[in-house]
Parts: sequence; structure tokens; C-alpha cells
Amino acid sequence: MQVEELPITIKTDQTKNVIQIKNLHKTFTDREHEVLRGVNLTIKEGENVVVLGKSGTGKSVLIKCIVGLVAADEGEINVFGKDIHDLPEKELNKMRIKMGFLFQSAALYDSMTVRENLAFPLQRSQKNLSAKEREAMIVEQLHNVGLEAAIDKMPSELSGGMRKRIGLARTLILKPEIMLYDEPTTGLDTITSKEISELILSVQKKNKTTSIIITHDMECAKLTADRVVILKDGVIVAEGTYSSLENSQDEWVRSFFNK
Ligand SMILES: Nc1ncnc2c1ncn2[C@@H]1O[C@H](COP(=O)(O)OP(=O)(O)OP(=O)(O)O)[C@@H](O)[C@H]1O
Ligand SMILES: [Mg+2]
Repeated sequence: MQVEELPITIKTDQTKNVIQIKNLHKTFTDREHEVLRGVNLTIKEGENVVVLGKSGTGKSVLIKCIVGLVAADEGEINVFGKDIHDLPEKELNKMRIKMGFLFQSAALYDSMTVRENLAFPLQRSQKNLSAKEREAMIVEQLHNVGLEAAIDKMPSELSGGMRKRIGLARTLILKPEIMLYDEPTTGLDTITSKEISELILSVQKKNKTTSIIITHDMECAKLTADRVVILKDGVIVAEGTYSSLENSQDEWVRSFFNK
């Protein structure tokens, strides 16, 4: 007789910190002012954190520090419990594969078809895949963003919203555990923006992804945020749920929400 194991309910640790930033400072040598002046931010597993802030306050610099595109001057960046500054190059590269970055201008390779655009990251970081496996992964990701029909198209044949979705599919194909979105809905109409915001939500739900979303689009913030933080003069000045900040006592905080 086969003994079936009883299902054991394991309580997942809801408080696991995936990203922990402590006292982060950054000044660019060609500028006199400090862009980041002691940022502290902790993000839990599976959490969507939206970063708001006026233009030029260092939002993009903040997430570039997390992926190591910009070197911080001072402070700690812990990802999955490891300080990225202490990691040897090999470990850092392994860590980077777990992080997806959707750039502010999610550029596709113009001379490649959609299929080739999605194949590119796979060819670089999953060299052992067969052509058939690769094709299946490409089709699956395109299906997730609702654009299977665009597989043979060139980027120039796609609308801005479609390009954003392909850019997202290209990032998601490596199944990142962390997603960093830099203004994912900028330049899109309201309906397309909502589609992208819904995609961000479905990525969170389906893959249990931990995400930082930088946006000026308050509909996107409202839909995607478990928590909102506001960056001002290089530090986080407000933090809370969307509705708590929307109804903040502070007029300046409320102004972000057009209230
Ligand atoms: N590589 C760089 N070299 C020099 N200065 C930089 C560099 N990257 C960013 N900066 C400066 O750092 C400041 C913050 O830039 P950042 O791109 O993070 O702003 P942001 O908050 O993302 O703005 P936006 O909402 O317009 O995207 C700006 O003053 C910018 O000029
Ligand atoms: Mg920016």
C-alpha cells in the first residue's frame, strides 16, 4: 500500500525582506548636489512598492543602484540578504539574472523581430536550451502579454503600447524574482496604461514577484501599489498605503494625488 503524505501547511514567512536599502548616498562627480542623501527602504517578498517623486529627484538613480548600473557612494544594498557591494562579480551576475529591469525607454532591438528580441536574453543566460524549448518559452511569454500574433513582426510595425508589452515579455522571460519598472506607462494612453498596470499586477500574482514601480501615473500607482513611498530631496519623506497617503494631513503629500 502506498502511504500518502499528509499535506502539511507551511506558513510562508511573510516578513522576508527581499530588498533592504540602508542610508544610501549618491553624488555624481560632475554635479555639486547630492542626488540620494540617505535613502532607507525595505521591500518584502511579493510586495509591490511604488516610488513617487518630482522629476529629477533620483528615482531612476535609486533603482539603477539596486541593479548595480550606478555605484553608490555610501550605504548598504541588501538583495536576498546579501550586500551587493561585497559580492564577487560571478555572484553578482547570478543575482542580476534574478532581477528584471524595465527601462524608462523600453527599447527593443530595431533590427530584430519580436521573436529574436525575446530569444536574445535566453541565448545569453540559458545557453543549454534547445531551439524548441526556447521557442516554447517565447510563445508562453508573448501569450502572457497578449501578443502571440506579433511574433514575426519588427518593432517598427508595433504601437508604443505593444512595444512596452514586448519589452516586458523580454524581461519576464528570464522569470525574475525582482522586477524594477521605471515609468512603465509613460507616453501611453489611459486604456493602454491600464493594461500595462494590470500586467504588472498579474506578474506579481502569478510569479510572486517583488517589485519596485516608479511612476508619475497615479492610476498605475493606485492599481499596483501595496505600499507607496515618496522621494524628495534625496530622502524618503512619506510612506504608506495609497489611500493613507492620498488622505495625508500633509498638503504637499496630498498634492501628488491631485487632492
Ligand atoms: N549618469 C549620471 N551622471 C550625472 N548625473 C546624473 C546621472 N544620472 C542621473 N543624474 C542626475 O541625477 C538626478 C536624478 O536623476 P534621475 O534620473 O534619478 O531622476 P528621476 O527622479 O528618475 O526623474 P524623472 O521623473 O524625470 O525620470 C538628476 O539631477 C540627473 O541629472
Ligand atoms: Mg527617471
